[in-house]
Amino acid sequence: MDQAREEILSYEKSEKPLARGEREALLRNPGWGRVFTDHMVTIRYKEGRGWHDGKIRARTDVRLEPGSMVFHYSQEIFEGLKAYRMPDGGAALFRPDANARRFRNSAERMAMAPLPESMFLASVREIVSVDREWIPSAEGAALYLRPFMIATEVALGTKPSAEYLYCVVASPVGSYFKGGAAAVTLWISENYTRAARGGTGAAKCGGNYAASLAAQAEGAREGCDQVVFLDAVERKWVEELGGMNVFFIFDDGTLQTPPLTGTILPGVTRDSLITLGHDLGLTVREQPYAIDEWQADATSGRLREAFACGTAAVITPIGKVKGKSRAFSIGDAEPGQLTQRLKTALTDIQFGRAPDPHGWRNRLF
Ligand code: COI
Repeated sequence: MDQAREEILSYEKSEKPLARGEREALLRNPGWGRVFTDHMVTIRYKEGRGWHDGKIRARTDVRLEPGSMVFHYSQEIFEGLKAYRMPDGGAALFRPDANARRFRNSAERMAMAPLPESMFLASVREIVSVDREWIPSAEGAALYLRPFMIATEVALGTKPSAEYLYCVVASPVGSYFKGGAAAVTLWISENYTRAARGGTGAAKCGGNYAASLAAQAEGAREGCDQVVFLDAVERKWVEELGGMNVFFIFDDGTLQTPPLTGTILPGVTRDSLITLGHDLGLTVREQPYAIDEWQADATSGRLREAFACGTAAVITPIGKVKGKSRAFSIGDAEPGQLTQRLKTALTDIQFGRAPDPHGWRNRLF
C-alpha cells in the first residue's frame, strides 16, 4: 500500500463496483460530468482536532444537517484536474501541485481551513489508483477529478465554520462542449459582471460559478455557448469566460491574455500556455484588452485567433462574439493554426506523447 494512503486515508473497497461491461459502455461515450467512478475520498476537519478520518470508500450520498453552514453562507471551494492515460497504459496527472496550491489559496480567501498540499496530492493520486479502470482511452478523453470542500458546522451565525468536509469524486469525461473541437460563440455579458477587486474572483469557489449562471443562461437564449465577462468598474476590459480563461493571437504572432489582477481565476492551463507560448517562440503579453479593441481588431484582421482554455475546455477556439448591440467573427471561424499548435503542444505533454521539459507530468503508475 502507498505510504501516503497508509498515513492519511483508510481504504474501504466498494462492495458494488460497476460491472466491467457497464463501465466500458459508459467509457465509450462519457459526455461531460455525468458519469462517476466507484469510489470517493472524504477527509474531515474540526477546529482543535485538525484533519482526520481520511477515507477512500465507495461513492455514496453525503448526509448533512440542514443547519450545516454551507447551505446558508456558501463556504465552498473546488478544483478540477485530470488523470491522463499514457501510451504505455499507465497514467499521469498534470501539475497537481498547482491545483493543491490554488485550493489552499481559495480556502484562505474563503476563511476555510487550508488542506495541507500533501493531503490534497495523496487524495487525488489515490483515487486514480483505486479507480484506474475508469481512465478512458478514447482520443482526448480523461478522468476528471473534482476535489471540493464544504463548511459542515451546524450553526447559523455568520462566521467561518469550525468544521469542514473535503471530498474528491472522479468522472470520466470527453469534450466539454457539445460540438467537440468546433469553434464556440460567446455572449458578452452587459447586465452582469463576475468579480470586482477585493472580491472572490481569483478563488475557485462555487459562488463565482453560481453568480455566472444568469449570464450564461442569457447567452444560451441568444444561441451562445459561453458568456464573456467584462471588468466590474469600467465595463470595458475582457476578463474571463463563465468557466474558463481567454487568449488572443495577433497577426504578428503575439499571444495575449488578460493579467491576473485579483478578479480573474489563475488557471493552470492559462499558466501552462504562457510557458508553451514562450517555448514556441511567440511574444506573450499579459495585458488588458478592451471589448471595443477586440471587435476592431477582429474586423480589421489584426486579431487572427482567439480561444478559451481550462482543464475542462482544454483549448477551444472562439469563432463568434455577440452582444446586445454588436456581433463579430474571428478569422474564418475555423480553428486557427497557432491555436492548434498550442493545443498539440499542451495535449502531447498531458497525454505523454511528447517529452515533458517543465516536469509537469505526475506519473501515477
Ligand atoms: C475546470 O476547467 O476544471 C473547471 O473547473 C471549469 C468548470 C466550471 C467546468
